[in-house]
Amino acid sequence: MAQGNRAQGKIALVTGASRGIGRAIALGLAERGFDLALNDIARQAGALAETAAEARAQGVRVVELHADVSAKDEVQAMVDRAVAELGTIHALVNNAGILIAATVEACPETAWDQVMDVNAKGTFLVTQAVLPLMKAQAYGRICNIASIGGKHGAPEQAHYSASKAAVMGFTRVLAQEVGPLGITANCVCPGIILTDMGRVNLDDPAIRDGWKAKTAMARIGAPEDVAGPVAFFCSDDSAFVTGQTLNVDGGIVLS
Ligand SMILES: NC(=O)c1ccc[n+]([C@@H]2O[C@H](COP(=O)([O-])OP(=O)(O)OC[C@H]3O[C@@H](n4cnc5c(N)ncnc54)[C@H](O)[C@@H]3O)[C@@H](O)[C@H]2O)c1
Repeated sequence: MAQGNRAQGKIALVTGASRGIGRAIALGLAERGFDLALNDIARQAGALAETAAEARAQGVRVVELHADVSAKDEVQAMVDRAVAELGTIHALVNNAGILIAATVEACPETAWDQVMDVNAKGTFLVTQAVLPLMKAQAYGRICNIASIGGKHGAPEQAHYSASKAAVMGFTRVLAQEVGPLGITANCVCPGIILTDMGRVNLDDPAIRDGWKAKTAMARIGAPEDVAGPVAFFCSDDSAFVTGQTLNVDGGIVLS
């Protein structure tokens, strides 16, 4: 359960927020009192507006920002607009991501580049654009959405797995660089979550049942399952937690 408006006055930027896990994270942060800068690609403008309206209904300020996280100029314009409308950014959730299924043997070079550009480079570009704000205020919370796929992976997802492993490596070094500045950086690794992307793993009932059988909680995850752990990393409850990766997978990977 949310813990009331403990984040009053804090502002969070969530990328890929129009649907799925990003939408649930945005609404979870709104419930906790964060004002929100919500991003997605222009094609998702309608869905982003719906998420923004739901968040506003919780009484927080929300700005909608259309930008491709893999395009540096669009990212800088997005962050500039967030600052102009909301003042600054205290928490960044790099959630935008894509999955293109292909075996290593058949994977086109363009698919490798697209997945790396959005998942890995996008995380880097948005972080780089937000860091000066966090540095100036000596405060920041960065939560990057990786994946258990970045630790283990499944067939036809080698490039996706590589991109998420890149996000985890990036986060571990980022945490060391920005720790002295009052900024934390952590990863959340969702397991199998029922979203448009997650359906790739879930359309076939036999595969879905197989995942349930591999999960301690014996169910498929919902986007809302990811929101609480992300809110923890965006809050002061995690002030002395940095450079970590937390699996949010119902117990597929036990450690
Ligand atoms: N669903 C799962 O099972 C699962 C598991 C592990 C990790 N994840 C990760 O969680 C995150 C959210 O995934 P989801 O399942 O909600 O997927 P989704 O496809 O439902 O949502 C992804 C969102 O990112 C947006 N996006 C894509 N490219 C973008 C770009 N270049 N710039 C800005 N926004 C862009 C999409 O428009 C979409 O709104 C992703 O990083 C994904 O890799 C998902």
